[in-house]
Amino acid sequence: MNQYLQYKRNNLTNRDMTEKIKEGIDWSNISFGYIKTDYNIRCSFKEGKWGNLRVCTDENISLHMAATTLHYGQEVFEGLKAFRGKDGRIRVFRMDENAKRLQQSCEGILMEKLPIEKFEEAVKKVVKLNERFVPPYESGASLYIRPLLIGTSPFIGVKASEEYEFIVFVTPVGAYFKSGFKPSPYVIMREYDRSAPLGTGKYKVGGNYAASMVAGKKAYAMGYSALFYLDAKEKKYIDECGAANFFGIKNNTYITPKSTSILPSITNKSLMILAEDFGLKVERRQIPVEELATFEEAGACGTAAVISSIERIDDFDTKKSYIFSKDGKAGKWCTKLNDKLRAIQYGDEEDKYGWVTIVE
Ligand SMILES: Cc1ncc(COP(=O)(O)O)c(C=O)c1O
Repeated sequence: MNQYLQYKRNNLTNRDMTEKIKEGIDWSNISFGYIKTDYNIRCSFKEGKWGNLRVCTDENISLHMAATTLHYGQEVFEGLKAFRGKDGRIRVFRMDENAKRLQQSCEGILMEKLPIEKFEEAVKKVVKLNERFVPPYESGASLYIRPLLIGTSPFIGVKASEEYEFIVFVTPVGAYFKSGFKPSPYVIMREYDRSAPLGTGKYKVGGNYAASMVAGKKAYAMGYSALFYLDAKEKKYIDECGAANFFGIKNNTYITPKSTSILPSITNKSLMILAEDFGLKVERRQIPVEELATFEEAGACGTAAVISSIERIDDFDTKKSYIFSKDGKAGKWCTKLNDKLRAIQYGDEEDKYGWVTIVE
């Protein structure tokens, strides 16, 4: 029986329950997994229009076995976070960007776009309703918000669904990579591609992640944090690393790949602005693999990890190693950027960019 039901059976008040469950969750040691929360929000697209948001307690969905999401992968999703500050207030980071990216993903695989305002309303609502699961400030953990959208019409021919279901649920999470911010190793293996140059890599669609699992498993088994993808066409330029964008730093310049097959990371977009404000030059361009040898620092960035600094990248095929950290510590710029972004997210520093929405 889960903790919630157990406490309910013991006739405790809501407040007692909250406290007990909070006591029960070791906030500082939760992983990047799934912990059941109280509510999720849903919204259906039927007969050509989106309905009202519905509050749900059920974790399951009932779906026709011929739904387009199950056969033809009509599924798009997002990932963003809410943070509890020292002041106890809850802040959601750049949800308008996630709303826009969800729309772009929908356009990419011919799905019905959820209006931005509906997305934002659903996110605020799901966070507010599950407020007691937003980890305390001191834990360094956060509340992960997972919106998803699926095609639900039962079709057997390959075509776009006429009906859609949007769901957003939340779960408290700790660090994505076991190593956290500490530098960790990555590996290049040319035998795998994640997405094609004119394919779906720039959209957040489930199929991209299915396509990355075999390679990811191999990389983990060899002790790496993730696989480092090169462009699928020429295998000449850097794409991204696992479920994160790449950046390298040299000569006071923040350099990140420009590619049609990588996800436009909201974390990376934010880091580019912070880097400029720190006085770094910012370049978004193709990065040849050999250029790795010239970077003073390197990092992987994304909502889940924020920055995961890179210790070294081993090229499995050429047996070359590109080393960025020899002392087990992240570099100066990675640290500064990571600290600054986190400070904004947790409300320790002024949000002069307007990136944060406070959930009242
Ligand atoms: C493939 C991929 N690249 C990059 C990112 C980082 O994007 P963001 O910073 O928006 O989380 C993610 C995570 O969403 C991802 O799945």
